[in-house]
Amino acid sequence: MGFLAALDRGPTARAALEAMTGAPAQVLARAPGRVNLIGEHTDYNGGAVLPVALPHATWAAASERRDGRVRVRSLQSDTDRAVELPSVAACGPGLSPTWAGYAVGVLWTLARAGVPVPGLDLVVDSTVPLGAGLSSSAALECAVGAAVLGVLGRPVAGADADLLVTAAVAAEQEVVGAPTGGMDQAVAVHGRAGHAVHLDFATGAAAARRLVPLPLHERGLALLVTDTGVAHALADGGPDAEPVGYAARRADCEEAARLLGVPTLREAAPDAVAALPEGRPRRRARHVVSETARVAAFVTALERDDRRELGRLLADSHASLRDDMEVSCPELDLAVAAATGAGALGARMTGGGFGGSTVALVEERSLGQVAAAVDEAFEREGLAAPRHLVVEASDGASWSPV
Ligand code: GLA
Repeated sequence: MGFLAALDRGPTARAALEAMTGAPAQVLARAPGRVNLIGEHTDYNGGAVLPVALPHATWAAASERRDGRVRVRSLQSDTDRAVELPSVAACGPGLSPTWAGYAVGVLWTLARAGVPVPGLDLVVDSTVPLGAGLSSSAALECAVGAAVLGVLGRPVAGADADLLVTAAVAAEQEVVGAPTGGMDQAVAVHGRAGHAVHLDFATGAAAARRLVPLPLHERGLALLVTDTGVAHALADGGPDAEPVGYAARRADCEEAARLLGVPTLREAAPDAVAALPEGRPRRRARHVVSETARVAAFVTALERDDRRELGRLLADSHASLRDDMEVSCPELDLAVAAATGAGALGARMTGGGFGGSTVALVEERSLGQVAAAVDEAFEREGLAAPRHLVVEASDGASWSPV
């Protein structure tokens, strides 16, 4: 058993770009994946979330082209992948395969927002596991978007940082067709080393942001992320598709809000939720209302270093996602049970669900023991070995000249 290293892929991305173009790269950008501590399936319901930017990230090396064309190559995957498009205007909705939309959709949404996006050569490489519920897609969108800002000499800060978040969310929703909620791109841009990012979506997509100190190492604690290796697909809700999975959960929540007569489930009163007839809308609403309260309680428990409470909140969140939101799966339940059984303070599934990863809060000295217990549980069930990541909160998107 080992932990997935957060290597610096900047040099490989840069070298591959220079080999591809025969000229020096102009900029090197980076954007992280994320793990959400608590606040799941709340962002698109006007609720709060508490994600952390991973040390695992996507790098994009870029240089401007004079002919307006767009070429992107990805070094991450067994089969090297590339897309080439005649112009930035051709990077909009309808791109296939899905990967192309993630890789270049943000060029189109940035251009639509008035950014003078030039033709580009790009090479990306990443240490964020794909399809693991750790937002490899947001990392890709934000790394490419940050590279565009880099080529234009505009720092990822202030209004341009917000613009990048908005453009990345729009790329995912409109170009790829995945109706995601906005948390992933916000933390990929606004993450900060040593902090979790509290995002409150009460005011809509432009979430109110607050950094919450996360002194894990100082307290002898660590975050263990386990990728179960069970893949989920968030891009399941394309404009014409019958909603299943993530999109179906969103639709359920909207239905519940309609039944309760509130604009979003954030405004739903617990009593009104309890008074709904038993059924899907009631279960979904109960999850969102209880999860929103857990985010606030988690922030308080972090301030007080109340470990029992942190563990309890993680466990309750998992139970609610499993029973009320119905987005867990046997592999996630197994990883949570094994981690908790081996001494984790608490654990839960993280991200959209239907596979992907779990996050466990553990004492640093029992990291190896907890990870080994999860491996053993998977082996007993005949499942492929999961992958583990030890997470320290990292910085959000940035670029530097090369
Ligand atoms: C995915 C989406 C996010 C969020 C989570 C669930 O990661 O991209 O917007 O809804 O699922 O919390």
